[in-house]
Amino acid sequence: MPTVVSLFSGCGGSDAGVLRAGFDVLMANDILPYARDVYLANHPETNYVLGDVSAIESFPSADLLVGCYPCQGFSQGGVRKADRKINTLYLEFARALRIVKPKAFIVENVSGMVRSNFEHLLKDQFKVFEEAGYRVKSQILNASHFGVAQDRKRIFIVGIHEKFGLDFTFPTATHGDGLKKVTTIRDAIGTLPEWPVGEFYDADFHWYYLSRNRRQDWDQISKTIVANPRHMPLHPISPTLEKMGPDKWQFTSNDRARRFSFREAAYLQGFGDLVFPETERASMNMKYTVVGNAVPPRLFEAVARSLPNIWD
Ligand SMILES: C[S@@+](CC[C@H](N)C(=O)[O-])C[C@H]1O[C@@H](n2cnc3c(N)ncnc32)[C@H](O)[C@@H]1O
Repeated sequence: MPTVVSLFSGCGGSDAGVLRAGFDVLMANDILPYARDVYLANHPETNYVLGDVSAIESFPSADLLVGCYPCQGFSQGGVRKADRKINTLYLEFARALRIVKPKAFIVENVSGMVRSNFEHLLKDQFKVFEEAGYRVKSQILNASHFGVAQDRKRIFIVGIHEKFGLDFTFPTATHGDGLKKVTTIRDAIGTLPEWPVGEFYDADFHWYYLSRNRRQDWDQISKTIVANPRHMPLHPISPTLEKMGPDKWQFTSNDRARRFSFREAAYLQGFGDLVFPETERASMNMKYTVVGNAVPPRLFEAVARSLPNIWD
């Protein structure tokens, strides 16, 4: 089995993808204790190192290095500031790349990285990864095109060691127009309880929440699952929203509305029945955070499966 070192591993979305693609994860790392709790409750066999990646001096050698460094600096949800320190964690990934010397690597990040004010950071990532000896390609992929019940566009940066003389080719869509039927909200969560008490964030819908349409029907794909429960999309059991003006929407009835629960969010990310352990760090916010930060396993699996067979 080809081996993997995983960085910024969170609760294990990307790693569930590489496991499904037939890889063995030798080591995972994240700074967030509850992400480790969830990861280990679902994959107890992994050596999960908890702590700041910059404090890790040695890594095992492996065939593949994966990492989805944090994205707050680039994402729509976060403050978009190109100079934030959090935006340079890719340098830690590049440091690990030079130590591990894998045959290939996969990075995932928010698609906002292609915006012009971050272009220099994307270019710098290409530069440091190429200098480390890799042929690098990037592409934006939408999880819904790979059987995930969600509109989620993310950039993937993939490198293959230059000694193989190969360029990476990204997977093409398997689901959508003229292809397999997309996975809908109903397919993903249609059999779950309608009002799972204690599992959904039940605060008011603030004006900012109602500045756009947050609801999709059962037979559509979900809007993007985010890490902040305040901004979690609406469950289709909620009344529809109608547009009242620029950035202003309102419910069409007074029936009760609710956001997706953290468990539904996990299903909409394509995790299946993810175990959320009740450790001392467990809180509803934490459960939403680790799930919303994750990479949909099926999307990561599709990218990992598209790597050429360079493992022997
Ligand atoms: C986009 S999420 C990764 C999600 C993960 N790949 C998954 O699929 O579940 C980014 C992760 O980086 C972690 N992180 C942020 N700063 C870190 C640091 N200095 N060292 C290690 N992990 C860090 C965050 O806690 C977060 O879980």
